[in-house]
Amino acid sequence: MADLAQAQAGATMPGQPYMELVNVWKRFGEGDKQTVAVRNVDLAIQPGEFVTLIGPSGCGKSTLFNMIAGLLPSDSDGSILVKGKAQQDGALLGKVSFMPQRDLLFPWRTVLDNATLALEVEGMPKRLARQKAEALFPEFGLKGFEQHYPHQLSGGMRQRVALMRTFLFERDLILLDEPFGALDALTRSMMQRWLLDIWEKHRRTVLFITHDIDEAIFLGDKVVVMTARPGTIKCQETITLPRPRDVSVVTTPEFMEVKKKLLAVVEEESLKTFASATMRP
Ligand SMILES: Nc1ncnc2c1ncn2[C@@H]1O[C@H](COP(=O)(O)OP(=O)(O)O)[C@@H](O)[C@H]1O
Ligand SMILES: [Mg+2]
Repeated sequence: MADLAQAQAGATMPGQPYMELVNVWKRFGEGDKQTVAVRNVDLAIQPGEFVTLIGPSGCGKSTLFNMIAGLLPSDSDGSILVKGKAQQDGALLGKVSFMPQRDLLFPWRTVLDNATLALEVEGMPKRLARQKAEALFPEFGLKGFEQHYPHQLSGGMRQRVALMRTFLFERDLILLDEPFGALDALTRSMMQRWLLDIWEKHRRTVLFITHDIDEAIFLGDKVVVMTARPGTIKCQETITLPRPRDVSVVTTPEFMEVKKKLLAVVEEESLKTFASATMRP
């Protein structure tokens, strides 16, 4: 009875993944010109889990992201389930909060008005949206910058505005596509630790796409490795490093061991991408 009540309330049943991808495919174009971007992807994301997804450039990570976000329909072969329920085309849009690979801040909007954008699109009154956003500024290290414009901020700050917008759109699953890819190493490392702090506090389910192995291990409860295109899941590695994690974890034997293992797999896939790109007739 309790389970039924929980299911009716829209909660995840005990042991049930928040999201499941079952045999998901994406092909672009027709006939000779067809590109298979993603093939036969099976993946389960548990509630509250921090999943990192890694794979060589062009393997289909962003395509997968777009399908999960509901921005792109997946081919009819497979299905995407949320709390055990298959989602029809378009039904996923608005169910997850996402931050695309390019941060998409509007240059003509202030930082505050950029942060509230998703809430406004959802129909929340501007005043309420601003109130909600303003409360998060200190935590996101942006207090005092509410009325600045994106061009007045550093790269790390711009990414925090985009992340704040994503967090403000309160959905159970947060999708992040290489959010720190364009940052310098030091800023990137600071942002990783900061993101973990935020995540420990809010405990949302996260799917984080990256092409950096250290980042994938440092952040994740589980690292999922994709093959070269057409991308599918090559392997998954559970990361048992204790939390909260700080920068010293990267020098531990456990970290080194899992890195060595994943490096071998990722390198094998990257070489395939390199070979297919350079040996074309
Ligand atoms: N809209 C599209 N039309 C045709 N091909 C596409 C489209 N989007 C992505 N692709 C192709 O799908 C493959 C995977 O791209 P993408 O998902 O962006 O890779 P990644 O994010 O892993 O670098 C690439 O070969 C890319 O050219
Ligand atoms: Mg991409």
